[in-house]
Amino acid sequence: MAKLGTWEVFRFALNGGDRDSVLMLARIYSCPQRCRVASKNLLWQSLRRINAVRRGLLNMLWLTEARLRGLELGDRIILNGRPCLQRHVGSRITLADGVCLNSSLRSNPLGCSQPVMLRTLRLGAEIILGRGVGLSSNSVCAALRIHIGEGTFVGAGAMIFDNDFHAPVDEWTWGDAAPDNPKPVIIGRGVFIGARAIILKGVTIGDRAIVGAGAVVTKDVPARSIVAGNPARMVSEAK
Ligand SMILES: CC(C)(COP(=O)(O)OP(=O)(O)OC[C@H]1O[C@@H](n2cnc3c(N)ncnc32)[C@H](O)[C@@H]1OP(=O)(O)O)[C@@H](O)C(=O)NCCC(=O)NCCS
Repeated sequence: MAKLGTWEVFRFALNGGDRDSVLMLARIYSCPQRCRVASKNLLWQSLRRINAVRRGLLNMLWLTEARLRGLELGDRIILNGRPCLQRHVGSRITLADGVCLNSSLRSNPLGCSQPVMLRTLRLGAEIILGRGVGLSSNSVCAALRIHIGEGTFVGAGAMIFDNDFHAPVDEWTWGDAAPDNPKPVIIGRGVFIGARAIILKGVTIGDRAIVGAGAVVTKDVPARSIVAGNPARMVSEAK
C-alpha cells in the first residue's frame, strides 16, 4: 500500500477524520516527523473549530441584544464583536438580510479601533442598512434619516452623520445633541467608502460611487464617480 504524505493526512483530518485514526495513519504510514506535523495540523483545526463555535455563540448573543433593543433584523446578519446600538424611543434601526457589522479588533484587515456605533438621536429618526451592507468600526448617527443601500461597504473608521450635534446657544454655550438642523444622508447601492472618510449631513451618494480614504464629503456624489480629499472632489469615474 502506498505511503500517505503529510498533505493526505492533513486532508483526511480536514475531512473530519478523528484524532486517533489520523494519528494512527500517520504512525503507520509515515515517519515521526510527519506524525508531529499531523498532530500540529489537528491542533490548529480543533482551535479553528472552537473559535468558529465561539464566534457563532457570540453572534447569537449580540443579535439577541439587538432584538431586545428594538432593532428590526433580517436573516443571516453577522455581528463580529459587540456593536454599540442605541435606539431612541420611537425611532427605527433596520438591518436587512446579510448585513455584517465588524466591531472586534481582528474582524477587519485594518483592525477595528472601536465597535460599530449605530445611534438614533430622537423620535422618528431612522437608520436603514440595506441587504449585504458591511460596516467596520464605523459611527452612524441619525437625528433624521441615514439610508445605506444594498451591497455598500464602509471602510474602517468612517463616520456618517446627518446633523451637527451642537449649535450655539446664548453667548458662549453649545446646545445638546440633535439640534434642529438635520438633513438626511442617502447612500446608494454598491458604494465603497474608504477608511476614515466622513460623510456629512444632507449628502446623497449615487450608486456604485467610490469615496477615497480620509475624504470629507460635504456635497452630493454622482453615481459611478470617484471622489477624494477634503472637501471631497471628483477625481475620476468609477469603472
Ligand atoms: C479613492 C481610491 C479608490 C482611488 O483609487 P484609484 O482609482 O486607483 O485612483 P488613483 O490612485 O489613480 O488616484 C487618482 C487621483 O486621486 C487622488 N487620490 C486618490 N485617493 C485619494 C485620497 N484618498 N485622498 C486624496 N486624494 C486621493 C490621487 O492623488 C490622484 O490624484 P492626481 O490625479 O492628481 O495624481 C483610492 O485611492 C482609495 O482611497 N482607496 C480607499 C481604500 C480604503 O480605504 N479601503 C477601506 C478598507 S477597510
